[in-house]
Amino acid sequence: MASTRRPLIAGNWKMNGLRADGLALAKGVADGVKQAKWSDREVLICPPATLVLAVAEAARGSGALVGGQDCHAKPSGAHTGEVSAEMLRDAGASHVIVGHSERRTDCGETDAIVRAKAEAAWRAGLLPIVCIGETLAEREAGKTLSVLESQLKGSVPAGATAAKLVVAYEPVWAIGTGKTPTTPEVAAAHAHIRKVLGGLTAEAAAVRLLYGGSVNSRNAAELLAAGDVDGALVGGASLKADDFLTIAKAA
Ligand code: PGA
Repeated sequence: MASTRRPLIAGNWKMNGLRADGLALAKGVADGVKQAKWSDREVLICPPATLVLAVAEAARGSGALVGGQDCHAKPSGAHTGEVSAEMLRDAGASHVIVGHSERRTDCGETDAIVRAKAEAAWRAGLLPIVCIGETLAEREAGKTLSVLESQLKGSVPAGATAAKLVVAYEPVWAIGTGKTPTTPEVAAAHAHIRKVLGGLTAEAAAVRLLYGGSVNSRNAAELLAAGDVDGALVGGASLKADDFLTIAKAA
């Protein structure tokens, strides 16, 4: 089954990147992807919204894909400061991250909001990467699997298929901390996610599950080799083209 799940290595730049350095980074990644001519994996760059258009233009023809970091649930309207899935698509994006823990925490995004955003991605023709993950307190209380289960059930819209959904498991305590779960812990979480997905889609076995949280060029090979891991969502290490490409090579 794993052979049908083409690994996806996604870089989440978060709120980093002005035009000059962002375009240089995108060009570095795009050149590396073009040179590698990978047909067995996908590489995705998710710059801040201000750079989606320019990065998509810089990446055109390279094979590197471009995505947004968030979208609003509505296609347009009186929502000052927001960006719709349709706008991302129009700017050249093919993917969008929804429900990142920083948005769940900073912006109070609930599972219902995340689900509506994933539906908006579908409406616009984007592939949503739905993020879930437990906090340290939840892990220490032994609640990891039940938290993942309830976030998944609440955040994945009805009608999901393998072509329309990517799930990213990102333990909140591992994001930006340099700490990672052990590979058996990652494998256990991913196996549980796949099992729960079985109740949500007939194509659970083919849905790609990414691991995210302090993935870097040194630990990527080991984390990516864990059971049921089909790629990575990379924050800090996606801000250096060489590091990010090393992670993509490890997939
Ligand atoms: P990190 O971020 O790789 O910097 O830990 C991952 C993420 O938040 O997607």
